[in-house]
Amino acid sequence: MWRASVITLYPEMFPGPLGQSLAGRALGDSWALDTVPLRDFGHGRHRAVDDTPAGGGPGMVLRADVVARALDSLSPDGRPRLVLSPRGAPLDQRRVRSLSAGPGVVLLCGRFEGVDERVIASRHLEEVSIGDYVLSGGELAALVIMDACVRLLEGVMGKTESAVSESFENGLLEYPQFTRPRLFEGQAVPQVLLDGDHARIAAWRQEQAEKQTALRRPDLWASYAASHPPPAGRTKKPRESP
Ligand code: ADE
Repeated sequence: MWRASVITLYPEMFPGPLGQSLAGRALGDSWALDTVPLRDFGHGRHRAVDDTPAGGGPGMVLRADVVARALDSLSPDGRPRLVLSPRGAPLDQRRVRSLSAGPGVVLLCGRFEGVDERVIASRHLEEVSIGDYVLSGGELAALVIMDACVRLLEGVMGKTESAVSESFENGLLEYPQFTRPRLFEGQAVPQVLLDGDHARIAAWRQEQAEKQTALRRPDLWASYAASHPPPAGRTKKPRESP
């Protein structure tokens, strides 16, 4: 079973929202979650886990020895060990897919100014960020990573096709969706979606996905266009409607 172990100062934050909905229904069947309270490995009567930064400066840093003891309390089983930090490599759907396809993850939630660099090196921790903004700790980032991985596990999501056509899975943002009513405040559902011609619908959706990606995410569009060279005679622009 896919297993997530979360090392945290706030074990009561888990499973949190992952106890609900899709992930919650699959918890215990398709995946397992355990927490390792970092405080249990702290020093002295106050179970201290952090100290002032060497060289001075604001904030506190998680101690290398405390973090090492918490990590070493988990028997080595080949799971990647991630530390959540705004300094980390940005998480993307490719990394999510590979984490989800493996045995699980060990997630170390940083707090304070960070984690002593030496334990990151000695325990081969991979630093991962969920975006270019600063959270007050890694716990919410850990929840985000687990949610993204768990929904891809076998049997968690109803229809596997929905995971294939959605945003990022093919390097493009998802095409726009419509449902009833057919007319909403003067806006009609595009006629092509109502005619039942599945080839035309697929072509329309591809065109929309390309257009929206080029418009909203030029960065994604550039890498998509580079890996999908257009047929001779066509330029690397999103396809236009006829
Ligand atoms: N901890 C604080 N900010 C973070 C971020 N952006 N990503 C991952 N962990 C974090």
